[in-house]
This record gives sequence, C-alpha cells and structure tokens, in this order.
Amino acid sequence: VPALAAGSAGVPAWLWASADVSTVGRTRFVNRLAIPPLATGRRDTDGARVYSLRAAAGTRRFKPGRPTRTWGFDNGHLGPTLRAMRGETVRIDVRNTLRETTTVHWHGMHLPARMDGGPHQPIPPGGAWSPTWRIDQPATTLWYHPHPHGATARHVYRGMAGLFIIDDPADRRLGLPARYGVDDIPVIVQDRKFDGDNQFDESRPLIGGVGLIGDTLLVNGTIGPYHDVTTERVRLRLLNASNARTHRFALSAGRTFTLIGTDGGLLPEPYETHTVQLTPGERAEVVVRLRPGERIVLRSMPPDLNVNFWNSRFEGGDDAFDVLELRAAPRLAPSAAPPAALAPPPRLAPFGPGRVDRRFKLSGHKINERRMGMDRIDFRIDRDRTEIWELRNTNGTPHTFHVHDTQFQVLSVNGAAPPPELRGWKDTVYARPGAPIRIAVRFRGYADPNHPYMYHCHLLYHEDQGMMGQFLVTEPGRSPGPPPLTQDGH
Ligand code: C2O
Ligand code: CU
Repeated sequence: VPALAAGSAGVPAWLWASADVSTVGRTRFVNRLAIPPLATGRRDTDGARVYSLRAAAGTRRFKPGRPTRTWGFDNGHLGPTLRAMRGETVRIDVRNTLRETTTVHWHGMHLPARMDGGPHQPIPPGGAWSPTWRIDQPATTLWYHPHPHGATARHVYRGMAGLFIIDDPADRRLGLPARYGVDDIPVIVQDRKFDGDNQFDESRPLIGGVGLIGDTLLVNGTIGPYHDVTTERVRLRLLNASNARTHRFALSAGRTFTLIGTDGGLLPEPYETHTVQLTPGERAEVVVRLRPGERIVLRSMPPDLNVNFWNSRFEGGDDAFDVLELRAAPRLAPSAAPPAALAPPPRLAPFGPGRVDRRFKLSGHKINERRMGMDRIDFRIDRDRTEIWELRNTNGTPHTFHVHDTQFQVLSVNGAAPPPELRGWKDTVYARPGAPIRIAVRFRGYADPNHPYMYHCHLLYHEDQGMMGQFLVTEPGRSPGPPPLTQDGH
C-alpha cells in the first residue's frame, strides 16, 4: 500500500508527488513533431485494402542520454496511421513478435465481434491474426491498441497504439483541412514517467489509484514538439492515449479553436470554444486558425474542477502542460472556414431524460458490483434494437465508459441536455462522480451468439482490474429485454 501523506485526506503520496507539475510557458520546443507514417498497404485480388502490423519491442531516443526500451508496431514505438474509406473492405495482417500474448483492438470501429481484437482474440508470441471487415461508419479518427485482459495498461504504456482514420469521399465538399501531416495533424498525447535511466517507469504503486500517471508528455512520441504551419487553418486530430490522465486542451493567449468532430465523426455543427476535455480513449478534431508569423501553444490544462478535491487529484491534480507549439510561416496559404453544417446529428432517441432500459453503476473497479469474468456474459441484446442506458459513477473516483462496436448518442448529463461537445457520435464518455449520463445505443447488423463485445472503464488500470463486462449481440427476438426497472430505477 502506498504511503499516505499526512493530513491529505488519504491521498497517496505518489499522487501528491505527481500533482502540480506545470510546464506551461517553460517548455523549450526543440523537436519537430513526429508524424506517424501512413501505412502503405496494398490491394488484395478481391479488392480489399490490406495492411500489415508487426507488434515488436524496440528502442526510441526520446531525450538525450540512453534510448528508452519500448514496444510498438513496426517501428518500436506507436504505430503507422491506418486509413480506409467508408465502404471499403479492409484486412489487417497482425504478427506478434513480442514474447508475450497481446491483442489489437480497433477502438470505435463497427465490426463483427470476432474481428474486434478484445481479450478473446489473443495473438500468442510468434502468432498471427488477420481480421477483416467492411468499413461502415462516418469519417472520423479511431485508434488501435492492445486489449489483453489484465495487461492492457502495460502494453499501451510501453507504446503500443496508433491511429485509424476513416474517410468519407462525400465529406470532401466540406473543405476541411485534409493534407495529412501538413494541415491535418495527428496529435497523440500520452503522459509518461521516465526513471533515472531514461526508461518508462512502471514501478509506481497502483493500489487504490487510477494507474500510471506521468510528468512528461509525449506527442506522437515527441517531447517538446513544434509543428511548422503553412496554411491559415490546421486541423488537429487529438487523441488522449494516456493511461489515466484527463487532458483539457486549450490554446495559449486565450485563443479559441473550432471543435468539428468527436469520437465517432463530425459534429452536427462547428463549435467555437476555449477548451475541450478528453478522458483516456476519447478523441476530438479541432481547427485552429493562425495569423502569419505567430506562435500558438496547445496546452493540457487541469480538468475542470466541478468535482471535489479528491477527484481533482485523481484527474491529474493541477498539472498543466505545454503540448505542442504551432509556428506559423510569414505567409500562409488560404484555407476555408469550416461550413455551418457538418454532419447529420445522431437521432437514435430524443435528447433529454426519458425511459431507461439498463443501468450501469461504476464503482470501486466494478461495474454493477461485478468484476470482469472472461466466461461470463453480462447481458444479451438484439441487434438493431435501440436501448437507453444510464451510467452512474457512485464512488467519487473518476471513471469513463466505453462500449465496443458502436457509436452512441449522449441524451443527457445530470438531467440536462448534453453540451455541444457531446452532441455528436461518441464511443467513450466521462462519467463524472454523481452526474448520471444517459446514452442511446444500438448495435447494427452483426449478431454472433459466440463472440462477445466489451464495455469498460477506459482508465486502463481500472479495466485491467476488471472494471469491464461483456455482452452478446443476438438475432432479433433472441434476447429477453432488459430487466424491468421501477420508476426511479431501484
Ligand atoms: Cu480503447 Cu475496450 O478499448
Ligand atoms: Cu475507472
């Protein structure tokens, strides 16, 4: 059990130690932002787009001194950006050259459960796995990462993660910045702690907390990164790939950016805002406008503190970080403003409170008082049936809620209609202590009586501890409805 700091309401000392780190205004942006390479891939004879990924150990020189031992795809750390068009069939040939079993999960992807890459699709050392499916969802920024039960946190922390971008040719008319690595920039944010030997520090106590919290940010694996901007607007595809830390992104000098997309696609309309808060696993696409010659810093500010002191510590305390410096050239190529309408809004159910079909209580590393059982199916649901779920965090620690295979619609947060940033498709949502959330979910198309999908907290330590459950999607009429709930849900 970690030592407790005296008089601190039982907050473990290691959390104190990690709190109140601030690099804001002190960062030397000395490294050009690494852009994950686009996977090249090839066309199969049957027309499928084929990519290969190799899970491997490697090393990476993040900072002066010894290189850091890492895991990753292809290149020792992180992985190439996979990219596919809506309507295309893809196949990913994954090989595992690690000395440990891993899996590769396609976070946010609509696909058959056998292809999902969760804990039931292990790839043993030396093994291979070739999932294939048809891309059938709106353009957006998804990601891939390992999901072996009990070891996800360690595998991701060592560096296994990459982006999976989905394109929709119909969106070209929107004129959004779309030149990868030029004005359409992946921004994978992860906090890490280095030991005295430059190695990732996995040693901090994990008992009772949120898991691995770092004091150094890696952005696409770069410390202190800058990006040279040559256009009036840039699109940033933000991914919080940290194990536990919530990042509340904001720009320097009180500048705003335009939020255009969230987990599952573009928002109905652009939203001009000062901040966007992402818990682990969540994504956001923002458009930043620059003036010639200026420098703007993207920052990760402390999460908004509409929670008590205890929670703010767990969410990363008062830590604030410089994330990325955008350096505008003296002359910028013109780019169009995002149009007033971006995508059709989710319409599974009307916004606001209403009936509830199923409840999920998040508490104490358990969901509905149970820990994950690999051999236990927690519920069954008919395909193509819309259900209203209520998520309730009852124990004061921050949690998130992620569901595989689908993008859901947030109907209400604490009884109120969702804020603009929660009005598009989502696959992961922050479950703030004491603020129930209602979502409308539907699992389209694929029924499979033998392979479950997962739902879980995306704080990876919690997930590994068993804050996860599994469900089957069945043919219509095969699943009993959800258990009856009384009016107030007890
Ligand atoms: Cu990003 Cu079940 O995970
Ligand atoms: Cu949790």
